Amino acid sequence: MRSINIAIDGHSSCGKSTLAKGLATELKYVYVDTGAMYRAVTLYMLENGVVSENEGFDEAELIDSLSEINISFNFNRTTGNSETFLNGTSVEHDIRGLRVARCVSQVSKVKHVRDKLVYFQQQLGKNKGVVMDGRDIGSKVLPEAELKLFVTASIEVRTARRYKELVEKGVMETVESVQDNLKKRDFEDSNRKESPLIQVPEAVVIDNSRLSKLETLTQVLDLANEKIDNH
Ligand code: DC
Repeated sequence: MRSINIAIDGHSSCGKSTLAKGLATELKYVYVDTGAMYRAVTLYMLENGVVSENEGFDEAELIDSLSEINISFNFNRTTGNSETFLNGTSVEHDIRGLRVARCVSQVSKVKHVRDKLVYFQQQLGKNKGVVMDGRDIGSKVLPEAELKLFVTASIEVRTARRYKELVEKGVMETVESVQDNLKKRDFEDSNRKESPLIQVPEAVVIDNSRLSKLETLTQVLDLANEKIDNH
């Protein structure tokens, strides 16, 4: 049976990565978290003083620093999850906090950042058998993907999920600041010039506001298996 590529796009914290990981496990495909790549670039820039939370950044300096960044993923046998590495060090925990979340949309607007990461993502998708999630996967990174999904959920449901996730990780934030960040990122991601988040016409829309993780996964697995069978 030949493998397919699955592209998952959608707003922040709508359950894309949970769905993508579940699909990859069931189908024995590779999961690629493109948001983690933009987050890792942002973390590098924050830690090296190129980006400041309050003062923004100089675009030329940011572009210059891009060559110093190497991103990779490694499977952690203890947690059973893939971890993001920045220049050889695991940054899985650090890239998930609000400090990175507050700056990542600005950094991901920069064309050079996108060009570098999109190239890397396309290489990962070359041999098929990949489930990739992000904002521009169906439109730009894998336009030939056999199955495209646009995942969505209400802002209230997304805020509650994100807040719970942060609490579980020991990150202390208010519900209001979490919601505010989600709204800001949604706006920035959908209105930027370079590859904004769009719903491509061929994407299947999955609104999981009232669906459990398992219900969502079951629904999408059916779609994926149908595509694989007809491929
Ligand atoms: O999926 P996420 O919330 O971890 O993504 C973090 C940010 O990265 C998101 O706000 C926008 C950016 N991003 C992007 O511009 N393009 C992608 N393919 C994935 C993420």
